[in-house]
Amino acid sequence: MANIVELRPGAVAVIVVDNPPVNALKQAVRAGLKDAFTRARDDASIHAIVLTAAGRTFMAGADITEFDKPPQPPGLIEVFDLMEASKKPIVAALHGTPLGGGLEVALTCHYRVAAPATRLGLPEIKLGILPGAGGTQRLPRLIGVDKALPMILSGDPISAQEALKNGLVDEIVEGDVTEGAIAFARRVLAEKRPLTRARDMEDKLKPYRDNPKLYDEVVAKSAKRTRGLAAPAAAIECVRWSFELPFDEAERRVREEFQKLRDGDQSKAQRHIFFAEREAAKVPDLPAGTKPREIKRAAVIGAGTMGGGISMCFANAGIPVTIVETSREALDRGLATVKRNYENTVKRGGLTPDEMERRLKLMTGTTDVDAIREADIVVEAVFEEMELKKQVFGKLDKLAQPNAVLATNTSYLNVNEIAKATARPPSVLGMHFFSPANVMRLLEIVRGAETAPDVLATAIAVGRKIGKVPAVVGVTHGFVGNRMLHARGIEAERMLLEGALPQDVDGALTEFGFPMGPFAMGDLAGLDVGWRVRKASGAKAEIADALVEAGRHGQKTGKGFYKYEGGSRSPIPDPDVEKLIVEASVRHGIKRRNLDRKEIFERLIFPLINEGARILDEGIAMRPGDIDVIWVYGYGWPVWTGGPMHYADRVGLPYIRDRLAEIAARAKNPKLEPAPLLAKLADGGGTFSSFKKAA
Ligand SMILES: NC(=O)c1ccc[n+]([C@@H]2O[C@H](COP(=O)([O-])OP(=O)(O)OC[C@H]3O[C@@H](n4cnc5c(N)ncnc54)[C@H](O)[C@@H]3O)[C@@H](O)[C@H]2O)c1
Repeated sequence: MANIVELRPGAVAVIVVDNPPVNALKQAVRAGLKDAFTRARDDASIHAIVLTAAGRTFMAGADITEFDKPPQPPGLIEVFDLMEASKKPIVAALHGTPLGGGLEVALTCHYRVAAPATRLGLPEIKLGILPGAGGTQRLPRLIGVDKALPMILSGDPISAQEALKNGLVDEIVEGDVTEGAIAFARRVLAEKRPLTRARDMEDKLKPYRDNPKLYDEVVAKSAKRTRGLAAPAAAIECVRWSFELPFDEAERRVREEFQKLRDGDQSKAQRHIFFAEREAAKVPDLPAGTKPREIKRAAVIGAGTMGGGISMCFANAGIPVTIVETSREALDRGLATVKRNYENTVKRGGLTPDEMERRLKLMTGTTDVDAIREADIVVEAVFEEMELKKQVFGKLDKLAQPNAVLATNTSYLNVNEIAKATARPPSVLGMHFFSPANVMRLLEIVRGAETAPDVLATAIAVGRKIGKVPAVVGVTHGFVGNRMLHARGIEAERMLLEGALPQDVDGALTEFGFPMGPFAMGDLAGLDVGWRVRKASGAKAEIADALVEAGRHGQKTGKGFYKYEGGSRSPIPDPDVEKLIVEASVRHGIKRRNLDRKEIFERLIFPLINEGARILDEGIAMRPGDIDVIWVYGYGWPVWTGGPMHYADRVGLPYIRDRLAEIAARAKNPKLEPAPLLAKLADGGGTFSSFKKAA
């Protein structure tokens, strides 16, 4: 620990931060920096200073675990004051990902040089906070308000090349970046270059000082839809202060905003998801040292909606993939969809044409299932029919190499039963992708009763490699997400009969922050899908069935619970649907009444939380945070409320228990009764997060 920050003396001294894995700016690092900069200042033999970091990256941010503790001096600002008072030039040597507080350190140096692969950014917004140590003031001065605001609002990093163009870095150096920075510092000394302090730079602010209206245009261009998020609104104000207020006054106010956000519910929820995401793929009973199998080639069975998207995931990650279909026609259709998807991304500027070609070349389509012999992992994405899946897995078992991982993308079916169709159930598990599979981040990894540890580890590693957020779950109908989704739907149709309209029900969820509600989602997925399942099982959904039988299959027919005009995907409330619903109420002898948003919201969300409690109790999910991650990354749960279980804790479990009891009694539906775990925690003053600790 002694050398967490080391000062290597010399005419150009080097300060090295060494706090693996990402050189987070924890208290010991800040104290070390303060000490090193003080000694460098006081040592007359030192004329310039290079600040660098050991390992894979320059400082990649604050230590988030310190957020919930009392501040531990020295603060970053104290270190920055020392740096800015330095009469000796300070050059930052950047590599890896200088992010957040790390980039703010770099912004406070007089010069910055970077390795070519460096990515620089201020991702604070993703945790519901904003850059609280100079980022909102120094970045606009260095690169201009119009470039700084989008970086702060998106939280996305930029490349070293872009940073060179916009003035964030002064030079890109090949080879050892510390050596490059030393050479740079020597030149600064030899040429007697002035000490450039970002805080003193005024040129790029002047146009905004002269004409503050310019800023409104920048805001209009950079602000995404922020739907109730506090941090982006605050960040926009903080950047405005860069040209409206003197530096120190602006920074004082920024710190107040930062603290407000940090202590608020939204950032707490977002930090919860940040940590839960990292935990969701951890499997406590996986033997230490379990090694994932090597994956060099993949195969996907089925080139439909999901198969195409899953194949793209592999190709995007540079893994060659063979796609197997039953007919040339289905294959061509699937491959054409993939190509169209890529072309759209190219059109939007998200991909170069060369890169698209490279990815397409990694995909081979075939109607010969024999081609899976070479694959190290096979993902099955054929129709959702047990008999068909068993037949496919029987074939895979005969053809696949002994070490291959065999995964199913089933949404609901029993993975253990599918595994038994092979002579190697330990090699089988579920890899449940979400639609569109090339976009959605969630990957539910379904561990079968016999799934081998290294097979599980392989699925997790592959999931990460293809950019997904893996969450390990157990076998149950619909796994975690769809099982809870089903619980959310129980009351939806009843509320239509009682007096609500689809837009009222959906509105209660979009107001909370979901991108869409259950009825708009049904229209998007196709109402005929559920209808077919109900017909097969003898189940009923009066309104939805009537819509399908009237030819209203959702967006694809231009009509469903809503109407869609001119090829648009925006749902428009339809008087015909209202008529159909009101007639159904009349048939049932129900006197329609006004349901307010709160009632609608609770009748949708509390049953879902209740199902989450059962899933936890059964051990299908290992931790409440896993459920939260599943809902945030797979089902559009607004991240700033932290997912259903975190949200439930915030609302208070006794309230939810009591409301569920009322809802169950009114609906005469025992399924809606408070789950035993929920009741137990509520009775004992517990929370779902305390359950995690007890387990
Ligand atoms: N659509 C979704 O939102 C979604 C989300 C998650 C999981 N899933 C699951 O993914 C699976 C596929 O769903 P989808 O929406 O892509 O269906 P889809 O109907 O779009 O595609 C299925 C494809 O499988 C092909 N196929 C059928 N039998 C085959 C065989 N023996 N060999 C090779 N190909 C065969 C079909 O020709 C078709 O192209 C299902 O199990 C589904 O439950 C779907």
